[in-house]
Amino acid sequence: MKIVLIGFMGTGKSTVSKRLGTICQMETVEMDRWIERQEGRSVSEIFCAEGEEYFRNKETQLLIDLEKAENVIISCGGGVPLRACNVKELKKNGKVVLLTAEPETVWNRVKHNGHRPLLAGNMNVEYIKAIMDSRREKYLAAADIVVATDGKSIEEICKEIIRALEEN
Ligand code: S3P
Repeated sequence: MKIVLIGFMGTGKSTVSKRLGTICQMETVEMDRWIERQEGRSVSEIFCAEGEEYFRNKETQLLIDLEKAENVIISCGGGVPLRACNVKELKKNGKVVLLTAEPETVWNRVKHNGHRPLLAGNMNVEYIKAIMDSRREKYLAAADIVVATDGKSIEEICKEIIRALEEN
């Protein structure tokens, strides 16, 4: 089976997927890093040179390529659930886990990181909250399981995910 982690930037998808992969002995695919390797340039460089739509098409293609992958944890870029076709692909044979965090928590986690083109020049709580609010409905609609990450350790988050997956 596949475990798919979705959620806003800075909700801990990458870190959680790595730890969860070790605990569950599953491979992990971090979509942003995968696309960066394929393209030989960073997400910011792709956004800048080709535009957002090009990057979004790369995400959709990668999900299609991963359709047959098994025993894998996919850590999605924050924008993946915004396209209905992506969500359909994720749900085919994966359990979708939504990680959430308050805007203040996200800001604290990402404020010193310049690798997120959508927040470039807008690295503040109000802006983060605005994008988060606009995406909430789509994130929730895609999720089988929702885990809040504020104030929790990676270990606690992983345990919570495993427990929820067993019950689900
Ligand atoms: C994005 C999130 C980023 C990356 C790109 C766009 C988004 O991934 O895919 O910058 O639209 O939320 P992370 O959620 O891993 O930071």
